[in-house]
Amino acid sequence: MDLSTTYLGMKLPHPLIPGASPLADELDDVKRLEDAGAPMIVLRSLFEEQLAHEQLSAHSGIDAHENAFAEALSYFPASEGFRFGPESYIEHLVRLKRAVGIPVVASINGTTAGGWVEYARLLAGAGADALELNLFLVPTDPEESALDIEDRLLAVVRAVRSHVPIPLAVKLSPFYTSFPHFARRIESEGADALVLFNRFYEPDIDIRNQQVVRALTLSSSTELLPRLHALAIVSGRTRLGLCVTGGVHSGLDALKAVMCGADAVQMVSALLKEGPKHIATVREQMATVLEANEYDSLAQVKGSMSLTRCPDPKAYERVNYMRILQNWRG
Ligand SMILES: Cc1cc2nc3c(=O)[nH]c(=O)nc-3n(C[C@H](O)[C@H](O)[C@H](O)COP(=O)(O)O)c2cc1C
Repeated sequence: MDLSTTYLGMKLPHPLIPGASPLADELDDVKRLEDAGAPMIVLRSLFEEQLAHEQLSAHSGIDAHENAFAEALSYFPASEGFRFGPESYIEHLVRLKRAVGIPVVASINGTTAGGWVEYARLLAGAGADALELNLFLVPTDPEESALDIEDRLLAVVRAVRSHVPIPLAVKLSPFYTSFPHFARRIESEGADALVLFNRFYEPDIDIRNQQVVRALTLSSSTELLPRLHALAIVSGRTRLGLCVTGGVHSGLDALKAVMCGADAVQMVSALLKEGPKHIATVREQMATVLEANEYDSLAQVKGSMSLTRCPDPKAYERVNYMRILQNWRG
């Protein structure tokens, strides 16, 4: 079965990519993923706070506003708390590029345009085949409007784009007032792809100990549905490549994402739980289902369930909400 696809300008034998996470922290693990068939790998993110911290440190000798500088340093988390500092991240990238044959995507995470975006150029120079920019933002300021936030994030995309000649994917959160419009604005800034969607790790409440509890739970397939919806409504209406992240655990999950328009499918939780061999399992599941439905290639089903092509586009629109609620019979 031909499962090949093209993502970020690169032809891949199949769409199943290990997403940004600790999966690529160790050279041996990346080799294992490559041996298990991973066609590309995404590194965990460097954070704006780390990069800004590094830059502030570099300029501390010439900063006239020493108090402001000290305050800024205390605000940014110290580099030691991160798995990789900016320098060791680049070293890791260079080592990986020498050791494996698959494309390596670097990742940065930021929400304000600042000097830190120059690191994007360093990542490209160190051999990254593409860059994933994670625009993870938690709106908590009542003074900042949706438009303010979108403008700010677009300024980041613009700044990063101006620093890197390599393909640029933008990873988004699910909560935008008009996601298709924002997607169009990202496209007009020159990005190459969208990665939909990052997960929020909302804290829980521990009533007995009166604490806010931070926890990272791995995903399940139920988280795929809002991603399918978003893919379906932009697929065929954008030049951006589309990649799903969040809730892909099986071949059926991956196929659904492709049918809604995904060019590529990232997996993290499933690979953390099942190990690298799960790539082959999901790949086989995809091939088996396609074969059973008499397809020759994945390309034949790509986008077939998008809003513009599926037999029931209303399922993606407001009318679906009314129908679903009115027809519920228990
Ligand atoms: C332990 C862990 C670390 C992660 N680190 C990053 C990161 O550094 N950058 C990023 O963009 N996403 C990161 N993610 C999010 C994943 O890339 C992915 O978007 C998310 O887990 C949803 O996909 P899944 O359902 O396949 O797990 C991380 C996820 C996990 C579980």
